Amino acid sequence: MAIFKKKKPELSLEGIVLPKHIGIIMDGNGRWAKKRGLPRKAGHREGAQVFRKITRYCSEIGIKYLTVYAFSTENWKRPEDEVGALMGLFKSYLEEALSDFKDDDIVVRFIGDKSGFSPELQALMTENEESSKNRDGMVLNIAMNYGSRDEIVRAVKSISAKVKSGELDESDIDEKLVSDNLYTAGQPDPDLIIRPSGEYRISNFMLWQAAYTEFVIMNKLWPDFQKSDLDEALLIYAQRSRRYGGI
Ligand code: FPP
Repeated sequence: MAIFKKKKPELSLEGIVLPKHIGIIMDGNGRWAKKRGLPRKAGHREGAQVFRKITRYCSEIGIKYLTVYAFSTENWKRPEDEVGALMGLFKSYLEEALSDFKDDDIVVRFIGDKSGFSPELQALMTENEESSKNRDGMVLNIAMNYGSRDEIVRAVKSISAKVKSGELDESDIDEKLVSDNLYTAGQPDPDLIIRPSGEYRISNFMLWQAAYTEFVIMNKLWPDFQKSDLDEALLIYAQRSRRYGGI
């Protein structure tokens, strides 16, 4: 007797309201590797492939901004060999994979403190930003050595220096001015943040920008994340009623 596996019904995004800006906390690489008896860096390698696939998919379906959390200001605390493996991955991606995004017209930007990286990596980051800045497709923000509290502290320092020099008056300080001093200046706040791996934490990611963001937590480790998981998150988002504090 033939046994037919019940196929998951195809999800359709037709006619749904898509978020303009999606944030993704790419979590679960370590657990994915551990489950398979592999070193953590194998999970990061797989996660990097998924990053590439999901980024292209977001661009294909018409997302305007995508921000991925690749390395936090706290991730330096990890064992030296894991940090080294991540730096190696970033380097090879900046050298090869990101040029793939050319076909998709993707603008590549880095948010975070670049000065923490080696001069070689910093140069590659700048090169990627420069070579993609005139494209008119989706903006991809890669958060590297990024911490939202650090981002806010930098904004406060920059604004206070301008007040001190007389360039700004204290009465000029408002929410827009703060937003304009963040790494994401000029971009809309994220409408949706997806966190795979089942953790209910924001982990110092876009704290200011996420004031009214919808969160979708998914029980999948990032290396297992598929296009259909993104579709599922988008359908959940489309059903949310966003009230921004109103009724
Ligand atoms: C969190 O999972 C993931 C990271 C700290 C690294 C994310 C990096 C990538 C997916 C590579 C992306 C590459 C480019 C070029 C942007 P975890 O290690 O904390 O997993 P765990 O919670 O299971 O331990």
